[in-house]
Amino acid sequence: MSKALDGVRILDFTHVQSGPTCTQLLAWFGADVIKVERAGAGDITREQLRDIPDVDSLYFTMLNHNKRSITIDTKNPEGKQVLETLIQKCDVLVENFAPGALDRMGFTWERIQELNPRMIVASVKGFGPGPYEDCKVYENVAQCAGGAASTTGFDDGPPVVTGAQIGDSGTGLHLALGIVTALYQRTQTGRGQKVLAAMQDGVLNLCRVKLRDQQRLERTGTMKEYPQYPNGQFGEAVPRAGNASGGGQPGWILKCKGWETDPNAYIYFITQAPVWAKICNVIGKEEWATDPDYVTPAARLPRLKDIFAEIERWTMTKTKFEAMQILNKYDIPCGPILSMKEIAEEPSLRKTGTIVEVDHPTRGRYLTVGNPIKLSDSPTEVKRSPLLGEHTDEVMTELGYSPEQISALRTAGAI
Ligand code: COA
Repeated sequence: MSKALDGVRILDFTHVQSGPTCTQLLAWFGADVIKVERAGAGDITREQLRDIPDVDSLYFTMLNHNKRSITIDTKNPEGKQVLETLIQKCDVLVENFAPGALDRMGFTWERIQELNPRMIVASVKGFGPGPYEDCKVYENVAQCAGGAASTTGFDDGPPVVTGAQIGDSGTGLHLALGIVTALYQRTQTGRGQKVLAAMQDGVLNLCRVKLRDQQRLERTGTMKEYPQYPNGQFGEAVPRAGNASGGGQPGWILKCKGWETDPNAYIYFITQAPVWAKICNVIGKEEWATDPDYVTPAARLPRLKDIFAEIERWTMTKTKFEAMQILNKYDIPCGPILSMKEIAEEPSLRKTGTIVEVDHPTRGRYLTVGNPIKLSDSPTEVKRSPLLGEHTDEVMTELGYSPEQISALRTAGAI
């Protein structure tokens, strides 16, 4: 079966996490992704957080599936020429170097346009134009600068970063959408364009509801669905809301049976208004279904803490899975707090290809997260990440270099 992005060639000049997330997705959709790395070293993540000596790390293998790897020293004049040939043959150049690195290499937007006016140049940067545009940025810096950290955690504690890599992988996702959109526009204009996804912007986009709340707070001085209401104080900025749901349906994380020893024996419980009567029945508080102090969402708001304490008395008598089973029967929205161990072992995620086992020649078998986006006409087949420079000869040959030229370039240290 053909793939959605068959025929699209990507010059993948990305490293670490944000850029590789983007190009891995494009590869899963069928693009030919040629990852350019420095000979001898490669993407720094190949050797970061290694669990097996001298073997590509899981950090690298899990972000670089379905790609080909070619080594080029792009600071070597002959290596530069190889990169120029690649630019002429590819549709998209994706990069996430520190600001200015591509220009310093000699590949300005103007130069790339000269070489290939159809080329789309897609970049992840930490910040967009402004005071911080020259800064190098990693995940947690973006989480802090994009509004996630100041709004995550409990009110009486410091800002907290989240385990979800919304700065890196989140921005990679944004960039991938920008690229396919630019490819679509190119079918009409015939021209390439620049695509920029700044990590601060990506995080802020994912924190959109918190900017909503900032304005609500400024207008009304309070936010009734926040745990600070009605007894706590609101300041000038959106406070950290603990585990409050952030939407119009109050929710909280509650202990389940076994919480004393299992750090993940918890459930997320939403007191959705339409099922309030069912909640009351399940937890044995039938009288709340008609009591004017509890019957409407507005009446419940100032009592949420006590309500969740009462529900928790019930959830603590069940494991999170038993509670799920019972609550789902009544369409009460809830979710178990799953550990990574439980997720890794979950058969349904294996079945859909969201968790995949991959074979690797030096690492052996490992688990990875497959493509979370499923296309019915373009199914994803997850293939292992390339070894450093594994496809240099193959790609060079496709670019028209003879075996002698390849050998000479290798001797010159250009590839
Ligand atoms: N041949 C020769 N030189 C190469 C090369 C190659 N194949 N590939 C990269 N380089 C060079 C670059 O030209 C650059 O050289 P320069 O600084 O002399 O211009 C250098 O390698 C390293 O680039 P840089 O991006 O500065 O790496 P870093 O390890 O110092 O910084 C980041 C890493 C992630 C902080 C930085 O790249 C960055 O801020 N990126 C943008 C934001 C981002 O994506 N962050 C999230 C990463 S998950």
